[in-house]
Amino acid sequence: MSTDVTADNPFRDEFLTRLSPEPCTLVIFGATGDLTHKLLIPALYNLALDGELPPTLKVVAFARREKTSDEIRAEFAGSNLKQSRQGHSSEFWAGFQERIIYHQSEFGDAAGYASLSRLLAELDAARGGAGNRLFYLASAPDNFEEILSHLKEAGLNEGCHGGWARIIVEKPIGKDLASAERLNNMVAAVFAEKNTYRIDHYLGKETAQNIIVTRFGNSIFEPLWNRNYIDHVQITCAENFGMTGGRGAYYDKAGALRDMVQNHLLQLLSLIAMEPPTDLSADSVRDEKVKALRALRKFTTVEEVAQNVVRGQYVAGSVNGRSAVGYREEDRVNPDSQTECYVAVRAFIDTWRWQGVPFYIRVGKQLPKKATEISVHFRRAPHVLFQTLPARGRSNVLVFRIQPDEGVSLRMLGKVPGLAMRMEPVKMDFRYATSFGKASPFAYERLLLDAMAGDATLFARRDEVENAWHFIDPIEQAWHQAGQPPTMTTYPAGSWGPAEADELMERDGRSWRRI
Ligand code: BG6
Repeated sequence: MSTDVTADNPFRDEFLTRLSPEPCTLVIFGATGDLTHKLLIPALYNLALDGELPPTLKVVAFARREKTSDEIRAEFAGSNLKQSRQGHSSEFWAGFQERIIYHQSEFGDAAGYASLSRLLAELDAARGGAGNRLFYLASAPDNFEEILSHLKEAGLNEGCHGGWARIIVEKPIGKDLASAERLNNMVAAVFAEKNTYRIDHYLGKETAQNIIVTRFGNSIFEPLWNRNYIDHVQITCAENFGMTGGRGAYYDKAGALRDMVQNHLLQLLSLIAMEPPTDLSADSVRDEKVKALRALRKFTTVEEVAQNVVRGQYVAGSVNGRSAVGYREEDRVNPDSQTECYVAVRAFIDTWRWQGVPFYIRVGKQLPKKATEISVHFRRAPHVLFQTLPARGRSNVLVFRIQPDEGVSLRMLGKVPGLAMRMEPVKMDFRYATSFGKASPFAYERLLLDAMAGDATLFARRDEVENAWHFIDPIEQAWHQAGQPPTMTTYPAGSWGPAEADELMERDGRSWRRI
């Protein structure tokens, strides 16, 4: 497919006007942690390289450890070297690092916020502009409450001299509905919803944004986008690694359902299932997404959960020739853990459009590859005209490759050249790598810019997060109900998951797409 991104593109102006980040100071709480090293600093560096950052933007790295600005800059340089999308130039870094200032304080120390306030005022004065502040909660969630209350106490939740103050909240937003509501209330007591940006980095992925463009920027898909033409939808997120870098400690308390389904995968589902928004404003888009999430059918009994959800743990195996220990043997995982690292869900959306169309979601660690995709499987042609239909690949499938090899493909039947009337499935393929001739920015780059520009479209609104928990909670409750037989299945590391997940599909006469 060829692409014209400049002329007559209805989305062009929309996108260009959205991307005007305003000068501000970004304050990162938990700046010595992994997220800042691996994602935030490389995102900022790449934005700077592309000339996208406001020239006067400063970054205040707020953390507990004793350190100087020079020390944190050197540490960030080391991680940027490994993580940067466009490589690391020492020369460019030398200028870029001037933006970073280290601010040492305990999260619970009021004096640390008073001195932060003075520092921000000095930076504003030097910049000579409005006091815009963007706070980023990148610390452990246990610290959110004290950070928020101290920000309020120091009056930092209000912009200065007519400027704005916004807060970015990292996942997890709670571990169930009640704790998510608690956290949301806590944030709401300090920052208005319009100034609250809940990050779901999947929404910042270019290909997730492309779902809306494919659906509503073209006229050929939407007429078919309903129960009359779509047989079912599959959403797969496969990862070919386990608990790297001490991640077991967090993951064993979360599990795949909370870690990935509640947020990223239900967000993708809502983009596929939503009704067309009236415009592309943040609230119009999120109003439609939340309706889809609200319409997700909740499981009401333990039996329903058992019939529609499979959870599993990997046991020792080999992932592409690399031997892997079982989940319960992983570092910082309880040897008797009952936490799932694979989950498959059969979900329904009770709306006019989607009645009776199953949405199958699966996600797992230590599967054969790292790949995320959404496949929309259309119903078969209504009348069999040809004698020699292939056994497989008879229905049309539209695939959104979220990652890797980002793109969209459409499977259809084609005639095999020759005198006989033989058919085979063929693919029409659009690949970002070849069509646009430039690499996509990383999700965090886009999201940081949007927060600086005040565009919350790609951030989860409070009601989206809470409606997602409404769907997740009954599953967790069924799994943890006392006296229930254990329903944990297993699968060898390096396989495509437990046999029970295949059976879930087979019972419906369907199968998982081979990725
Ligand atoms: C995170 C999860 O939110 O997303 C991780 O906590 C997961 O467990 C990661 O590995 C996947 O993100 P991506 O962008 O690599 O698909």
